[in-house]
Amino acid sequence: MKVLVFGSINIDLLYSVDHIVKPGETISSSMFQKSAGGKGANQAAALAKAGLHVYMAGKIGSDGKFILELLESYKINTQKIIKYDGATGQAIIQIDKNGQNSIILYPGGNEEITVNEIQETLSGFNPGDIIVLQNEIVHLDLIMETAKKQGMRICVNPSPFNEKISSLPLNLANWIFVNEIEGAALAGLPPETDPQTVLDKLTKLYPAVEIILTAGKDGAFYGFGKTRIKNEIVKVPVVDTTAAGDTFTGFFLTAREKNMSVQESLKIACKASSITVSKKGAMESIPFANEVF
Ligand code: RIB
Repeated sequence: MKVLVFGSINIDLLYSVDHIVKPGETISSSMFQKSAGGKGANQAAALAKAGLHVYMAGKIGSDGKFILELLESYKINTQKIIKYDGATGQAIIQIDKNGQNSIILYPGGNEEITVNEIQETLSGFNPGDIIVLQNEIVHLDLIMETAKKQGMRICVNPSPFNEKISSLPLNLANWIFVNEIEGAALAGLPPETDPQTVLDKLTKLYPAVEIILTAGKDGAFYGFGKTRIKNEIVKVPVVDTTAAGDTFTGFFLTAREKNMSVQESLKIACKASSITVSKKGAMESIPFANEVF
């Protein structure tokens, strides 16, 4: 069984600020850090650090070479990452004194992936293999349809949530990972709706899909058909929430592939993401298996 993450690869430009900058305001940052990120690359790192053999696909410019090297240091197969004559995606991230973030994305290579490159990338994957997707690259609908035709199992994290999500064939997925805001939006409910109600709606809308919903301090929830399972979060001082959701996805999927129960897998994923939020940065703040299992 192979795991392919087809997703974004970003250079994260991280600024520590007192508060998220307001319209018309200019503020100074107390710390700047350039690091490896992108929801796709972070999830590939989480899956690999958790112990799976992972292939990463995406598109970068020559400025993204340091990310490639970091992914390879986690033993991720990077042969499906396409190099092009343009810029790698960027994320400008402000982190306030409470560890909350605010992100501006510049898509770069993430939006330069072509239809031909998708066919080429998915060749060589077989029924039962897993593809992991987020919403930071183009042609997601085509990727999902092609992967399904090949019998691959599909994991979708529709994040960041925007108007593109409504046109995706999400019913083709085996797993959907959402946070409470994304879950409510996907369910067509107000953002403040309680997680159980969101889960009830999503399991009706997507009866063949396992729904995993993270709800910050309220914990993590699983819904499939009539099954409901919940796990509390691990409370730690929050330094930076960046990549917490990516860590959760990677560790939950890995735990399930290691035949752990849903309850145990939620527990492992909550523990892993509690470690990520206690450190600054994205990919490098994700723990390794021996810190979690
Ligand atoms: O999920 C966190 C990621 O979102 C960051 O690494 C940033 O690149 C943005 O894509």
